[in-house]
Amino acid sequence: MRTRAAKSRWLALILIFFCVAMAVVAVRTPAASMALDARVGKFLDDNRSDWHDWNVPYEDGKVLHDLIVRNRHTRALEIGTSSGHSAIWIAWALSKTGGTLITIEIEERLRQKALQNFKAAGLEAYIDARRADAHQLVKELEGPFDFVFLDADKEWYLQYFKDLDPKLARGGCFTAHNAANAFPGVKEFLDHVRSRPDYRTFIDRSSSSGISISCKNE
Ligand SMILES: C[S@@+](CC[C@H](N)C(=O)[O-])C[C@H]1O[C@@H](n2cnc3c(N)ncnc32)[C@H](O)[C@@H]1O
Repeated sequence: MRTRAAKSRWLALILIFFCVAMAVVAVRTPAASMALDARVGKFLDDNRSDWHDWNVPYEDGKVLHDLIVRNRHTRALEIGTSSGHSAIWIAWALSKTGGTLITIEIEERLRQKALQNFKAAGLEAYIDARRADAHQLVKELEGPFDFVFLDADKEWYLQYFKDLDPKLARGGCFTAHNAANAFPGVKEFLDHVRSRPDYRTFIDRSSSSGISISCKNE
């Protein structure tokens, strides 16, 4: 009898603990996400004119952020981290959709700089920053991804697309920076994605660089 009463007391205690924990999470989550929003927004505003490592302009970061939030993407890949400006915009969006980002940079010095920026923005938990040659790593990554941002060697854009196309989920979007610039490799890449009947492609021209956005049919 006593054992059964003791068991019930324990069960009641566990139940109370669980309810309190859930309540704490429920109350803390909006406050925590508001605090993160304020921190990232301030970081991006404070550093708006301080990106000098071939980083995307502020407007293009916002385009990537808004696209991810609108489409509720959660499994993102970036090629070309540099010091992390675009990754911060992407990871900020993913903090709202419940996703994470893998970003690849070939230069360790830049990866280290990016890691510092991710910490300063408060987004390090959302970013897996790899130092690697993306030519190789992209072939090895399993996927699936539902968002890709290309911003590294343009001559390889088409090959990156061919390697990642099978790993991009239906409804996923493949984006590429400098789509409005005449860098070698960009035209071949754009001609190819535009010829694909299973993708819808358009160019966002919020900045003069342009971002191509190719979304795979559902
Ligand atoms: C235009 S910058 C990226 C800027 C970054 N997206 C941003 O907005 O902060 C291009 C980066 O790609 C890196 N890169 C070039 N070729 C690469 C490769 N094969 N694998 C990985 N990274 C590469 C360069 O070192 C450079 O830092």
